[in-house]
Amino acid sequence: MKIVFPVAGVGTRFLPATKEVPKEILPVIDRPLIQYAVEEAVASGLSDFVFITAPGKEALERYFAPNRPLDAFLRRQGKEKLLDDVRRFYRKRFAYIRQEQALGFGHAIALAEKAVGGRPFAIALPDDLILADKPVLAQMLAVHRKYKAPVLAFMKVPRAEAPRYGIGAGPFLEERVFSLEKLVEKPAPGKAPSNFAVIGRYIMTPDIFPLLQRARRGAGGEIQLTDAVVELMKRRRVLGYFFEGRRFDAGTTLGYVETLLHVALLRRDTRDFTRRLLRSLARDEKP
Ligand code: UTP
Repeated sequence: MKIVFPVAGVGTRFLPATKEVPKEILPVIDRPLIQYAVEEAVASGLSDFVFITAPGKEALERYFAPNRPLDAFLRRQGKEKLLDDVRRFYRKRFAYIRQEQALGFGHAIALAEKAVGGRPFAIALPDDLILADKPVLAQMLAVHRKYKAPVLAFMKVPRAEAPRYGIGAGPFLEERVFSLEKLVEKPAPGKAPSNFAVIGRYIMTPDIFPLLQRARRGAGGEIQLTDAVVELMKRRRVLGYFFEGRRFDAGTTLGYVETLLHVALLRRDTRDFTRRLLRSLARDEKP
C-alpha cells in the first residue's frame, strides 16, 4: 500500500519561519516533523511514499535523498551512528508530485490518483504527530483489512474546539470503530453533530478520486477531502476509528511547544534535563 503525504500547504501559522523552510522540516529536537510521520509509516509496514509538494519546498524533496558529501564527511570523522541516521531512508521509494497552487488538502490528494494506481492507500498529515505503542497507521490498517472499508482516525475534543476540525458521528460497530453517518468540516459553533474530531490519518479507497474531481470549494475556499468523503458515505460504508495513542498538533505554535516538551520528556537523552528544567521554571527560578 502506498502512503500519500500532502505537504504543499503554505504554513501560514509558522511564518516567517516557513517563508524559506517548509513547515514539515521544522525540527522536533533533532529530526524534522515529516520524519516522525515517515517513521510511523515504516513501522506500520509501508515503504512507498508519495509526497504532494509545492514550488519552494525543494528542501523537503532533498531531505530523504542521498547526500554523498555528507556521508563521506561523517565516514571520515568515524561518526557511524549519525551516518546510519542520515542514510536510513536512502533505499525507500519516494515520489514527488507538485501542487502548483494551494487549492486545498482535497485538491492535493486528487493529484495522487495516478501514483496510487487504483488501490487502497493511506494518507498522513505530518502536523499531527502521534505517539503510540502500536503505530496508529498499523492500527488503522488492521481495521481496514477486517471491514474492507475506508477508515478515518478520530479523537474526542472539547465541544468548544469542534469548529477547528472535521466532526463525525455514527453508530459503533465495536469498541473504537463506528460507521460514519454524519461528517462536517469545521462546523459552526453549536452545530457540531458530536465531539468526535477527524485527525490526520486515513486509509482511503480509490473511489474517492472521481468524487474529489467533482468537489467544489468548501470551508476556507479550499477543496476539502471531507466533502468528498461525505459523498463517498452515500455510496459505501466509511468507518471512524478511535486510535490508541496521544496526538499532538505540531501545526500550531502552542501545539508545537507541547510536542517538543513531550518528545523531550520521552527521549532518554533529553528526559532528565527537561524534567529539571520544567521543575525549576515552575519554581520560577533560573534553570
Ligand atoms: P493546513 O490546513 O494545516 O494548512 O493543511 P497549512 O498550509 O499546512 O498550514 P496553515 O494553516 O497555513 O498554517 C492540512 C494539510 O494539507 C496540506 C498541508 O500541507 C497540510 O499537511 N495541504 C493544504 C496541501 O497539501 N495543499 C493545500 O492546498 C492545502
